Amino acid sequence: MNVAIVFDSTFPADPSYYDEVYDEVMATDFDGEPDPEYQIAAALRERGHTVKLLGAHDDPMAVMHHLREEPVDMVWNASEGFGTIDSLDFLLPALLDAEGVPYTGASPQCLMVTRNKAMTKKVLAHHNIEVPRFLTYRIGEELRKDDEFFFPAIVKPMRLDASQGISKASVVYDREALKQRVQFVHEKLHDAAIVEDYIEGRELYVSVMGNGDDLRILPTVELLFDPDKNKPEDRIATKKKKWKDQYGKKPKVRQVFARPISAVAKERIEHTCLAGFRALWLRDFARFDLRLDAEDRVWVLEANANPYPSRGHEIANAAKKAGMAYPDFIETILKLAKRRAG
Ligand SMILES: Nc1ncnc2c1ncn2[C@@H]1O[C@H](COP(=O)(O)OP(=O)(O)OP(=O)(O)O)[C@@H](O)[C@H]1O
Ligand SMILES: [Mg+2]
Repeated sequence: MNVAIVFDSTFPADPSYYDEVYDEVMATDFDGEPDPEYQIAAALRERGHTVKLLGAHDDPMAVMHHLREEPVDMVWNASEGFGTIDSLDFLLPALLDAEGVPYTGASPQCLMVTRNKAMTKKVLAHHNIEVPRFLTYRIGEELRKDDEFFFPAIVKPMRLDASQGISKASVVYDREALKQRVQFVHEKLHDAAIVEDYIEGRELYVSVMGNGDDLRILPTVELLFDPDKNKPEDRIATKKKKWKDQYGKKPKVRQVFARPISAVAKERIEHTCLAGFRALWLRDFARFDLRLDAEDRVWVLEANANPYPSRGHEIANAAKKAGMAYPDFIETILKLAKRRAG
């Protein structure tokens, strides 16, 4: 196929500049991890596709003009936001829809719903999928007198991802700490706050690939915390743990394939992820972040549309375990999108 990889870039350059620097980027050792768009390009080239890299900087239409001049069969959408604003991740797919160009992954609507952690939980709850109870506070909104608080609770920014704004102080045990953390989310992260019941349990990441009735659940990845620490605030994937310590000498968290899971829990996880995929109108690939409690109850913490597709991260690892080498995994997403688009 003739494929364009579309992505957002904070670097001011012509959309096709990224294709020119491809060889240079791939030859540089960035801890073995070039940005996902380059990894996707390498994977698709290895599978024999004709690939061009198109980055969007300040004018999203520049990419669309490129695609009008030199049409492609498919776009692999690797965009994660626009400019410095992650919540604009729907923008490039929306423009691709307007141009009638088919692309991989979630629709703008699905991206908007899944980015909002409260909206996601409301949709899932409607389908009887278990989610932690929660309260929400819009920017500037204070705790209300009639709110029914619960502790321990975890306070998260409503729309940020990659564990931004998640630290030990996110877990709160009383009303005063809760109030402070909500204020922190409003003032420092400029986002609404969601306060969730802290769910004690194993942390599992379950990826799904496919569309319609043809959905495949990939092997479960588990995040292991320091076994010597049992306090809730030591058993969450903070930004620090997720993005820094994994390269450090002594990682605080470790991703492994899940240790044994009971048959009952396995069935519940499968049901939850398949029903959740459908309920949220996900497409092609997605990852659910779950907690499994001591009674084998499955709780959805969040659904990730267009999960981070780089080598060595959750879904690529799970795909590998399921027998898809990295180029296969990336190409499978392309093929699923192509079949869906017709
Ligand atoms: N209700 C909860 N109960 C227990 N732990 C939680 C809860 N919500 C979040 N956490 C912890 O905080 C981490 C980050 O939360 P969440 O996945 O909602 O945020 P995110 O920033 O969108 O993450 P990602 O990096 O997956 O995009 C989780 O991986 C988990 O360890
Ligand atoms: Mg998460």
